[in-house]
Formats: sequence, structure tokens, C-alpha cells
Amino acid sequence: MSKLYAISGVTGMTGNELVRQILAKKDGNDHILGFDNFFASSVETVKDCIGDARFEFFEYDLNNKVQMEYFGKMVADQKQAYDEVIYINCAAVVHTEHFYHVYDTFETNVSGMNDFLQQAIRVGAEKYINCSTSEVYSMHSWNESGGVREDDFLTMADAEHSQRTSYAVGKLMTEFFMRDAVDTGKIKGCSIRFANVYSRNERFPKHIIPFIINSFRDNGKVVLLENSRKNRRTFLNNYDSCSAVLALADTDSALDGTVYNVATDEEISILDLAKLCAAKMGITNPVIEFEGYRESDPERRLLSTEKITARTSWKPVVDLNKGLDECIANYLSR
Ligand SMILES: NC(=O)c1ccc[n+]([C@@H]2O[C@H](COP(=O)([O-])OP(=O)(O)OC[C@H]3O[C@@H](n4cnc5c(N)ncnc54)[C@H](O)[C@@H]3O)[C@@H](O)[C@H]2O)c1
Repeated sequence: MSKLYAISGVTGMTGNELVRQILAKKDGNDHILGFDNFFASSVETVKDCIGDARFEFFEYDLNNKVQMEYFGKMVADQKQAYDEVIYINCAAVVHTEHFYHVYDTFETNVSGMNDFLQQAIRVGAEKYINCSTSEVYSMHSWNESGGVREDDFLTMADAEHSQRTSYAVGKLMTEFFMRDAVDTGKIKGCSIRFANVYSRNERFPKHIIPFIINSFRDNGKVVLLENSRKNRRTFLNNYDSCSAVLALADTDSALDGTVYNVATDEEISILDLAKLCAAKMGITNPVIEFEGYRESDPERRLLSTEKITARTSWKPVVDLNKGLDECIANYLSR
């Protein structure tokens, strides 16, 4: 079966790995139309794929009506040559220093997501995959029996009352757009609540893993929040986050408009993560300092992945040990 993929935010951490995994598929009949405005990435991330005729890249902005109209027309023009059209919305204002900006968050993450969904419906795409976030669980990021489930109650009552929460609230709204589109029979699709995703080759390394590695490398020490002494997280390699997107996109029965957690169950405290990185970097007595405290930082963020593993063949294959080795090898060679 041949597929035409329309991917927003294609040079970001999720988008660029999706391109690689789609191009690596054995049947080789798929085609990708992808765009990014380089808000938080660059064309460098897909430079190894640019020469491949199956991947067409455009420097477009999700919020630019003219460019989006043109993009939709391209999809419509090429659609007949493929069995299925799949939209994947990766474009978003993601990193912490950005998502305190409520208008950017709203315009791209909420309005832009919905405009892209409406475009998918208009051109007659079969499927839409919406990237949401586990931040919607706020302070209730785990439960009595371990991993928080997609159908556990969400509560905003103790969410941090700051602009930061606009990111989670915006993403939650997109889950309702997705649900409505499927419930009203317009398209198939689902939303994905990713846990902390990391990659060995973030173009602008901002997440905690590259932050720790680069701090040890550049400053000989790492400065963490006080919360890091006990707060635990799981980390999902972007190889696995992308294989989950494709597994869901390939499973029609899973595309019922609902939400899927995508994560690992390998928990580690941030402090132990820093010590593990140091050990892997050959630093025997790592200098780890603590500064600042974030009131609304959940102690754990552990997601149940029973739903996705029951409904698709997906399971993560890159454990933290292997993922960290790859990150360290890559960041130290820069
Ligand atoms: N990385 C994580 O830990 C994580 C966790 C939960 C959810 N997510 C979600 O997964 C999705 C992908 O995130 P990512 O980790 O690849 O982030 P990323 O920042 O690496 O990629 C997002 C991409 O979107 C692009 N973009 C931003 N605004 C745009 C616009 N107006 N027009 C076109 N492109 C635009 C950026 O330039 C970037 O390349 C996002 O929806 C994000 O919210 C990520």
C-alpha cells in the first residue's frame, strides 16, 4: 500500500526521524511532503534525506495562510497516485523558553493544529496524527498502581498557575479537535501524549539529557533544580516516539479519535541521570549543584502504555543505557 505523508514541523526532533523511518521502509513506495519554518530547527537535520526524490521539503509556516493553501493544493494534486494520505502534525512551539509565550503557543499549537486538521479533511486525507503531550497530566502524572492511564481524570486544580500551563492546556484542546473530527466521521486519527522525548542529535540541544551532557563537557559541572534530587522521569528515545507514530498510523482500528500514551517505564531520578551520564563520560567525582525550585513539578511522570501496546505492535526498543551511549558519543564529537 502506498502512502502520501504530509508532515508539519518536519525538521524538528520528531519530524526528521519520521522522514528517516519512512524512507527506510522496505516497500519504498511512500512519498513525503514536509515543511518547517525553522522556528526551532534547521534544514541540517534532514540534509541526508534532501536528495531523495521521495521527500519534498518546503520552508513554510503553519500559520501562513497562503503557504498552507499551496501545501494543501500539492497534497490534493498528488493524492490520486497513492492509496492513502496521512497527515502528521509535529509543528509546535515546544521548548520551555518558548512555551511561556501564550500567543505563540495558541497560534501554532492550537489554531495551527486545527487549520492543518481542517486542511487534511478538505483534501480528503484518510488519517491525521496529532502530537499532544503528557504535560496534560499536570501534577497527576502517575497513579496508585503506577502509570497514569489515558482515561484517568485530568485535573487543572493544582497545575502551575503560570503561562507555562498554556502549553499543556493548548495541547489538551487539540485532543478535543481530533476527537470531534473522528466522531463526526470526517477523518480517522488519534492524539499521542508523549513523555520526555530525547534524541542523540538535537539541533539545538535543550532537553535535560543533552543539557546534562553538554554542561559536564563545557563547564565541568551541572546545575540542576532542587527538585532533581528526588523527582523521577522516564525518557523516550525519538526513534521509539516515531515508530509509535507510524505504528498508530498503520493501525486503522486504533484511529478512533482517542488518546495514546507513548513512553517507557524505565524511571530514573534526574540526579541519578546526571550521575549516570557522568559515569558514562568517565567523570569519577561529578560536580552537581542545585539551584532553584519549581513548585509545580510532578515527582513522577510515569505513563501506562497498556493501550498502545494492546492495540498496535509497538514497543520501545532503545533503552536508556543504549540511548545515553548514543547521545554521549554524538554530543562529545561536536
Ligand atoms: N520532545 C518532547 O519531549 C515532547 C514531549 C511531548 C510532546 N511533544 C510534542 O511532539 C511534537 C513534536 O515535538 P518535537 O520534540 O519534534 O519538537 P521540535 O521543537 O524539535 O519540533 C517542532 C518543529 O516545529 C517547527 N515549527 C514551530 N512552529 C512552526 C510553524 N509555525 N510552522 C512550521 N513549523 C513550525 C519547529 O521549527 C520545529 O522544527 C510537538 O507537538 C510537541 O509538542 C514533544
